[in-house]
Amino acid sequence: MPFDLHSMSKIDLCLLPTPIISLNRLSNHLDGPCIYMKRDDLTGVAFGGNKNRKLEYLLADAVQKGADIIITEGAINSNHCLQTAACAAKLGIDCELVLSGEEPSNITGNLLLFKILEVSIHLVDDSQKRKDLMREREEELKSSGRKPYIIPTGGSNALGALGYINCIAEIKGQAEELDVNFDYFVHAAGSSGTQAGMLIGKEFYYPSTNIISITGGVNADYLKIETREILKEFGFMFNVMNALNRIPIEVVTGYEGPGYGIASKEMVDTVRLVAQLEGIFLDPVYNGKAMVGLFDMIKSQKFSNEEVVLFLHSGGGPSIFNFSQAFC
Ligand SMILES: Cc1ncc(COP(=O)(O)O)c(C=O)c1O
Repeated sequence: MPFDLHSMSKIDLCLLPTPIISLNRLSNHLDGPCIYMKRDDLTGVAFGGNKNRKLEYLLADAVQKGADIIITEGAINSNHCLQTAACAAKLGIDCELVLSGEEPSNITGNLLLFKILEVSIHLVDDSQKRKDLMREREEELKSSGRKPYIIPTGGSNALGALGYINCIAEIKGQAEELDVNFDYFVHAAGSSGTQAGMLIGKEFYYPSTNIISITGGVNADYLKIETREILKEFGFMFNVMNALNRIPIEVVTGYEGPGYGIASKEMVDTVRLVAQLEGIFLDPVYNGKAMVGLFDMIKSQKFSNEEVVLFLHSGGGPSIFNFSQAFC
């Protein structure tokens, strides 16, 4: 291995390994490949989710640098912001969130959880303004003697990607224990950290698998550029540039419905079906739409019935409560 994952500073925040379960009833219903699910909605802190894995490395770096307050950003109902605020709380570190959007009259989902945490929130009206405000807050906090540490959108950079390299190494071990080869990993893409980590993880730990990254409405070209940037940053950090330069990056589109964060009929039907067959709830923004993509690929016979697919459940559960109109 050209780099040693275990030598990286990491704080144990997650309940790992997360389980891999077989979705028998769903697989039978779809009459296609055998579908398993990696339950990263059960990573532990807050309501679980993929960001907790990235935060194990990002917050270790923050602590090592003596940070006493974390600043991060996202949309008003950001899953990443919830997980960051909750992990920071667990470590006894302050946290400030720069959120874009308007506070609704009915406070629910992640916004309700921010209120329970009493994390300090700075609201801006559009996402372009978030970075400027984060830098402003960073300067203000420094001049008042604090040590702020900025975590980028979605925790997506080379350090955050380590969380999903670690996840692929974990999956490889579980696959050996289960005596199964996962031919495909399917996951939802949003800010590129999970995709970058999985692609690097595949390269070094699990070359026989294929990664399928599905966007729920974030622009695919933008995501490909961001993922390439993270691969470059990682390649430079660990001196593995040559191996990573040749990795192809693909993002599957076509399952976003009317757009990012907006319900589609296919998403509603899919979330309902998975809940009713397996007792598992998918979030409407990321996993619900990625699962629409997986269903469609099964229908169009992308996989043979002998192949095995692993779907990553990346969390986001609290956002379901913002979609009552779509489901009722
Ligand atoms: C629940 C959930 N799943 C998937 C993603 C996508 O992960 P990433 O931002 O690493 O691409 C996000 C965030 O963007 C998310 O909140």
